[in-house]
Amino acid sequence: MTTTQRVVVMGGSSGIGEATAAAFAADGHEVIITGRTRDKLDAAVLRIGGKTTGYQLDAGSQADIDAFFAQSGTIDHLVISVSGSAGSGPFAELDLDHLAEGFTGKFWPQVRILKAALPHLDSHGSVTLVTAASARAAFAGTAGLAAINGALESMVPPLAVELAPLRINAVSPGVIDTPWWDRVPEAQRQSLFDGLAATTPVGRVGHPEDIAKAIHMLANNGFITGLVLDATGGANLATGR
Ligand SMILES: NC(=O)c1ccc[n+]([C@@H]2O[C@H](COP(=O)([O-])OP(=O)(O)OC[C@H]3O[C@@H](n4cnc5c(N)ncnc54)[C@H](OP(=O)(O)O)[C@@H]3O)[C@@H](O)[C@H]2O)c1
Repeated sequence: MTTTQRVVVMGGSSGIGEATAAAFAADGHEVIITGRTRDKLDAAVLRIGGKTTGYQLDAGSQADIDAFFAQSGTIDHLVISVSGSAGSGPFAELDLDHLAEGFTGKFWPQVRILKAALPHLDSHGSVTLVTAASARAAFAGTAGLAAINGALESMVPPLAVELAPLRINAVSPGVIDTPWWDRVPEAQRQSLFDGLAATTPVGRVGHPEDIAKAIHMLANNGFITGLVLDATGGANLATGR
């Protein structure tokens, strides 16, 4: 029988984070999900079930993050799935304040959370960052996202060495059908997804569960560290990377 572990999923009230929390909860683990919105957390806790609780925090606030870890106890596995949305668009028109906002929304929260978590992580546990295929795939209009996610991905190998035996990995998703896309009107989103599915080797965009399975595997495999795992359905290959 597996021992119960404490798993924290930052950004666990929606999309990839929620599916990941559900995968760990199904193993009987104690799962803490975080997010900024109380209602979203409460609804996700109900959907996930098991030993899941919700903790409200804004990953943009150092004080919120410190307060969380002050009461977290020892954590076996930390998943950082906090999303940002700013920073995309054709480079010639990219507003640099918008790009900076992208770093504020994703790069700094992930780094800030990881740094604050260190004293509270079991040394034989794991951290998994959620980055994005835009880090290395040559999708036009994603240079800003490449900078944000590439910066995170490039930290993974040195951190895996420096923080060992704690394991540090990342999953780099392609396009995944989550509420992150709700900002795009339904008809436009469907046509975008259909177009992407047609050029993706597996013939579809991803589901949150596709990424949750990859994160779950990385956390559970004690022989994998320093890895950035592409989970894109092959979309990055189709672009000629
Ligand atoms: N969906 C895709 O196509 C895709 C592709 C590649 C990479 N990714 C990456 O995957 C990760 C998860 O994205 P997703 O698609 O699952 O997005 P999502 O469905 O929008 O979920 C994002 C989660 O993060 C929380 N969150 C956002 N900002 C936060 C903040 N400042 N502090 C605390 N919690 C915050 C949200 O809750 P609240 O809003 O209540 O705070 C929610 O729980 C992101 O890093 C995203 O960049 C997504």
